Amino acid sequence: MTMPVSSSVVSNSVDRETFENFYAGPAPWDIGKPQETFLAVADRITSPVLDAGCGTGEHALFFAARGHRVTGIDFVAEAIRRARRKAAERGLSVDFVVKDATMLGDWGERFASAIDCGLFHVFSDDDRRRYVQGMAQVLEPGGRLFLMCFSDEEPGTEGPRRVSRQELYDAFAEGWEIETIQPCQIEINPEFTEVKFSEGGPKAWFAVIRRER
Ligand SMILES: C[S@@+](CC[C@H](N)C(=O)[O-])C[C@H]1O[C@@H](n2cnc3c(N)ncnc32)[C@H](O)[C@@H]1O
Repeated sequence: MTMPVSSSVVSNSVDRETFENFYAGPAPWDIGKPQETFLAVADRITSPVLDAGCGTGEHALFFAARGHRVTGIDFVAEAIRRARRKAAERGLSVDFVVKDATMLGDWGERFASAIDCGLFHVFSDDDRRRYVQGMAQVLEPGGRLFLMCFSDEEPGTEGPRRVSRQELYDAFAEGWEIETIQPCQIEINPEFTEVKFSEGGPKAWFAVIRRER
């Protein structure tokens, strides 16, 4: 198995078929629990919550278990099927929907918080723009996006596209305020050994980004 995209490839988003292939087995990012970085900001999340690119739903389910109203979207039907099954097994209610996160602009839903764990870094420049514009429509004014993406401090080119701090500032320049960008690391499935990342997991940025009023 290869990771979805080389960081040198910036003109294309990682396509649905590539992700469908990952979900044919255990995906490298699927660690069966939420990332620690999101646990640390849990008290700052307010309902309703959007989990964009939710995968098999660990973050959405974590916030639902804390009493939040949560919607999780992913464009891979198999990921959503697994997420729904987990919700049923855990007796939790989450609205898991098959939806393309670059098409948020045509949606009537509104959210007070959004989380993005590993989605932003799969987009091409064009899809990034579409995603940020759509996110601006579905996130209420004053609402926050909590976003974790691969960082340009992660060596090598295998795996997702690397993102610099400046690219985050550029992507969220109009109508947003970047409150914080902190370095962190992404925990990956230990069974995935085909790409060697930094000790402790790939280096990442964790950004808290507020939709201006
Ligand atoms: C790196 S995985 C992270 C999954 C999950 N957030 C997690 O932390 O386990 C990225 C996810 O985004 C989904 N994805 C990629 N492009 C998407 C798009 N345009 N619309 C919706 N989901 C997308 C993939 O199917 C995959 O589940």
